[in-house]
Amino acid sequence: MRKGNSMSEEEKSVVSMDKIVSLCRRRGFIFQSSEIYGGLNGAYDYGPLGVDLKNNIRDFWWKEMTQMHDNIVGLDASILMHPRVWEASGHVSNFSDPMVDCKICKSRFRADQIDLNAPCPVCGNKNSFTEPRNFNLMFETHIGANKDSASVVYLRPETAQGIYVDFKNVLQSSRVKIPFGIAQIGKSFRNEITTKNFIFRSCEFEQMEMQFFCKPGTEDHWFPYWREQRMEFYKKMGIHPEHLRWHQHGPDELAFYAKDAYDIQFLFPMGWQELEGVHSRTDYDLTQHQKFSGKDLTYLDPETNERYIPYVVETSAGLTRNVLMALSDAYDEEATPEGDTRVVLHFHPRIAPVKVAVLPLVKKDGIGEYASRLEHSLRDDYVTFYDQSGAIGRRYRRMDEIGTPYCVTVDYQTLEDHTVTVRFRDSMKQERVAADQLGAFIHQAIKDYRRV
Ligand code: GAP
Repeated sequence: MRKGNSMSEEEKSVVSMDKIVSLCRRRGFIFQSSEIYGGLNGAYDYGPLGVDLKNNIRDFWWKEMTQMHDNIVGLDASILMHPRVWEASGHVSNFSDPMVDCKICKSRFRADQIDLNAPCPVCGNKNSFTEPRNFNLMFETHIGANKDSASVVYLRPETAQGIYVDFKNVLQSSRVKIPFGIAQIGKSFRNEITTKNFIFRSCEFEQMEMQFFCKPGTEDHWFPYWREQRMEFYKKMGIHPEHLRWHQHGPDELAFYAKDAYDIQFLFPMGWQELEGVHSRTDYDLTQHQKFSGKDLTYLDPETNERYIPYVVETSAGLTRNVLMALSDAYDEEATPEGDTRVVLHFHPRIAPVKVAVLPLVKKDGIGEYASRLEHSLRDDYVTFYDQSGAIGRRYRRMDEIGTPYCVTVDYQTLEDHTVTVRFRDSMKQERVAADQLGAFIHQAIKDYRRV
């Protein structure tokens, strides 16, 4: 738990980052990249449970943002793009952080994140900082055999530009009409100077972005619409509403071309921080790409015969940052009726990495075989886990700690009447269910799930 007098009760109850990092490592959610070589800052590996958690959040977003709307289509653009893309978008000239180095210990800091009049936080020397310099956050590499300026390409720092650049292709090849959106999920890369706070800010991460193209003048309808949709998304994912809030960009934060911008903030272990941006971006990006590419990126309205460059409302979320949110929001330490403490992850069942654990009460007398057959029968529909070792209470705890919402116990009664016990993670209550109805029972339980 975090401590401090100026914090609200809500802020005080947030789990510490140390506990999240330790659980992630212990149970195989997330590891530091290249750990056996001492680790690489700003890069992380998603382990057996982490990859399922991340994929489930990704699939949930994809379904909510494409399948559940009749006017949003998908895209998977490449990470490497023509270097002119980043000139047009402004990233080559503007995508930088002010940076200072300590002249004594050579540590590097973001100038806007430390007190430049204080001693160096690493070596403690006074007056040791260089003058702030701008440091471009794009990773540069080369395409082809020659390493000269003509071969420079960048690892994309956001997925959004792939959407703008393919706007005309999508328009001409699909039957979409304005207003419509293009959604994309994929890796982005930024050479972040400050990478503390675990996966919150990393150099390699994933984004889930949607650009909604609309007629100029209608953006003030779509902008609040998408803000509401995006906040609802997190509530539907089972995130505590009191851990979410809006932050509107002030004049000093707003890009010069942007009409309005809001961030959804989440109460992370280190405090309130940005989770997602919802921005009203005018026709800036398409106009820039039209100018730099020389290609016509206007839209001909089939109803009015008007030609215009569409306005864009963007929703831009971090997938990997969503993983940290899901873990922090779900984490709890609870007293059990037996007088001990259980660590439990209250994931919404839709994003839980393992949905059903099947646990034979004992291995002998055919109970193990029965449970194993039952577990296999569920595999087509659910990620399952079979565990027959240890006391049943300990097996429940292991499943609670990774957020498995349903544990199914097979016992002697099962052999007589073909019923099993379903134990619910959150309430720890149990219910007897016919074994041949188990799949349908779990399906309904997932649909009806409400976070308490
Ligand atoms: N296309 C707009 C855009 O990229 P952004 O605010 O720079 O806007 C959007 O990024 C989201 O991407 C952020 O709200 C955050 O969730 C995620 N994100 C950005 N940089 C990140 C990083 N270094 N590590 C993890 N997630 C990051």
